[in-house]
Amino acid sequence: MYHLTFLLGIVFVWASCELVVIKRQKDRIYTGHVLFEVLLPMWSICAQYCSRVKVCKSINFISWNKTCQINYAEPGICSCELLESVGNSFVMASTFPEKLAGQCNGNDCNLNQSCIPNEMDYYCVPLPINVSENFKTPNEEPQNVALGKTCGQSSTYLNEHAEHVVDGLANTHHHTQREQSPYWWVDLGNFYNIMRIEVINRHTSGYRLHDLDIAVGTRLDDMSIFAHYVGPGKNHEHLVFQCSRYTAGRYVNLTITKGPEILHVAEVMVIACPVC
Ligand SMILES: *[C@@H]1O[C@H](CO)[C@@H](O)[C@H](O)[C@H]1NC(C)=O
Ligand SMILES: *[C@@H]1O[C@H](CO)[C@@H](O)[C@H](O)[C@H]1NC(C)=O
Ligand SMILES: *[C@@H]1O[C@H](CO)[C@@H](O)[C@H](O)[C@H]1NC(C)=O
Ligand SMILES: *[C@@H]1O[C@H](CO)[C@@H](O)[C@H](O)[C@H]1NC(C)=O
Repeated sequence: MYHLTFLLGIVFVWASCELVVIKRQKDRIYTGHVLFEVLLPMWSICAQYCSRVKVCKSINFISWNKTCQINYAEPGICSCELLESVGNSFVMASTFPEKLAGQCNGNDCNLNQSCIPNEMDYYCVPLPINVSENFKTPNEEPQNVALGKTCGQSSTYLNEHAEHVVDGLANTHHHTQREQSPYWWVDLGNFYNIMRIEVINRHTSGYRLHDLDIAVGTRLDDMSIFAHYVGPGKNHEHLVFQCSRYTAGRYVNLTITKGPEILHVAEVMVIACPVC
């Protein structure tokens, strides 16, 4: 991160007298993705500056020292880094009105430049830093957090181990013995806000999947029902169980409640965000 203390104020005259409405989030900042800082008098001028810098994806305006922080990313729905910060402002470039950039709208300045409107035209000036193209965009979207995690099952038939359910392959499956209530579980290794659970049924004998309880919990002996599937399933069916809000948990458990039956699915995906 670079600290720069020069004032670009004079350049940021509004290009037209039309009113543009910028969606600001008050009392918030997005930390950890600041590319550089410039001193500007107001958050709206900071947003306008951002609209003329291609690498700028969002801004923080720190009011006490009039600092405009240029972020190279914008927070996804899983972001833990959008923090409360009293008196400061956060704005995402994706919410900018088109008119904000004025003549700089659609400019062909390069990544290392910012665009400056000039009468009816514009010119390009170097950014205060050199931008390389390989920023890591943070992965703040919900992900399958079950992949490769520790898992187990009530019993194992032949070599069809519990791990096949979280190997990322829909053409492998686990297989319990025929039991009264066969089950399979996974330890996600950490707490997550679980958004949905997806199950891909086995490519044969899919009808054996029925009366399935899907439970989520903080410990294997303290589970609550997340979803229930009556079935019977079909071969290779992709089932999606979604709750209206996130369910926090570390363990996921699938149980056939009306046996005797065999539990054998190809894949279980637990789509979740980290708990902030
Ligand atoms: C302004 O303040 C913020 C936080 O209080 C700090 O992170 C930032 O570096 C400061 N900027 C300058 C230019 O002093
Ligand atoms: C920006 O400048 C750096 C350093 O000179 C250079 O490596 C990079 O290719 C430049 N990027 C663009 C898009 O011009
Ligand atoms: C960017 O890189 C160029 C060429 O490597 C160098 O001349 C220039 O001073 C650098 N600019 C900044 C702001 O670091
Ligand atoms: C989860 O796993 C346990 C065994 O650890 C089992 O007794 C229980 O019935 C399972 N099912 C549910 C829905 O919790």
